[in-house]
Amino acid sequence: MQTAIKQNTFADDVMKGLSGTPKFLSSKYFYDDEGSRLFLEIMKLPEYYLTRAETEIFSTQTRQIFEAFAENAAGFDLIELGAGDGSKTSLLVDFFLKQNAVFKYVPIDISAEALNLLTENFQAKFPTLSIQSEQGDYFQTLETFKSKFDRRKIILFLGSNIGNFAADQAVVFFKSLREVMNPNDLLFVGFDLQKNPRQIRQAYDDKQGVTAQFNLNLLTRINRELGANFSVPDFSHYATYHPIDGAARSFLISRKAQTVSIEVLNRQFEFADWEPIFMEISQKYSQPMIENLAKTSGFEVSQYFFDGQKFYSNALWKPV
Ligand SMILES: C[S@@+](CC[C@H](N)C(=O)[O-])C[C@H]1O[C@@H](n2cnc3c(N)ncnc32)[C@H](O)[C@@H]1O
Repeated sequence: MQTAIKQNTFADDVMKGLSGTPKFLSSKYFYDDEGSRLFLEIMKLPEYYLTRAETEIFSTQTRQIFEAFAENAAGFDLIELGAGDGSKTSLLVDFFLKQNAVFKYVPIDISAEALNLLTENFQAKFPTLSIQSEQGDYFQTLETFKSKFDRRKIILFLGSNIGNFAADQAVVFFKSLREVMNPNDLLFVGFDLQKNPRQIRQAYDDKQGVTAQFNLNLLTRINRELGANFSVPDFSHYATYHPIDGAARSFLISRKAQTVSIEVLNRQFEFADWEPIFMEISQKYSQPMIENLAKTSGFEVSQYFFDGQKFYSNALWKPV
């Protein structure tokens, strides 16, 4: 069965989100210039353990990862969905080049800012690397995969990006990936694992308030790009973690009753006092959840890589 996901523009998505009950905005629009800069700061925060855990896995298990990727293949295309600054992937690329591996790196990101920075950095650091950057929504670029790549495809989906999908969206997403993959291809996914709920909540509510700025920056982006008049100080960031469903959720809360106009949409939106806008889900997984997700989507887990504290896992999935 063909699983198609309709593509919307920023304006369409904002219209849909702010007309909804409850109101919501899509976290895929966080990453303009300022959002990309703030995310780099988040990755260095003491509370944000995710980046350190995945970096540890990539630094200490590089050879095992390489062996899994290179086994039974003459060469491969390393395709990264939502690559961001690619800093963790650079650890793999560096090792792969030193092994004289035959591969091409294809980072894909919706944020032109993030992708330009990544491409410049990688070209400077790895002059011999074959790199083909693609700007766009990964749902759209998926359709071209079958015709574009003829070697083994290794698809990277890192940084707990999958956490930003609700459970049903995650299945749709992996099923659509499965449709463009051949039996010898591999999928390498970064999952944040369930752990002390306090620690998870703090990762989305840091003391310095960088995560708050990161969320509020989307209102500034809507002001700039869609001609809105959000008064940013009249909203505040609020983060929760629910240990039963394993989901961290972020909200922006309207601190008073207010009306916001958005010129491009030719619409006004009413906010009640203390009304929330749902911004982002960050789903945390257990191993049975990962296995169930793989099975439902047409894959099996062939290998897990964990950090020393078992905070995080990169799971290697094979199509079945
Ligand atoms: C949380 S960051 C993680 C970046 C990187 N994977 C890492 O591990 O550090 C998410 C990245 O995915 C990108 N992104 C989010 N939704 C996207 C989409 N639908 N299509 C393409 N890129 C997307 C964002 O622009 C951002 O660079």
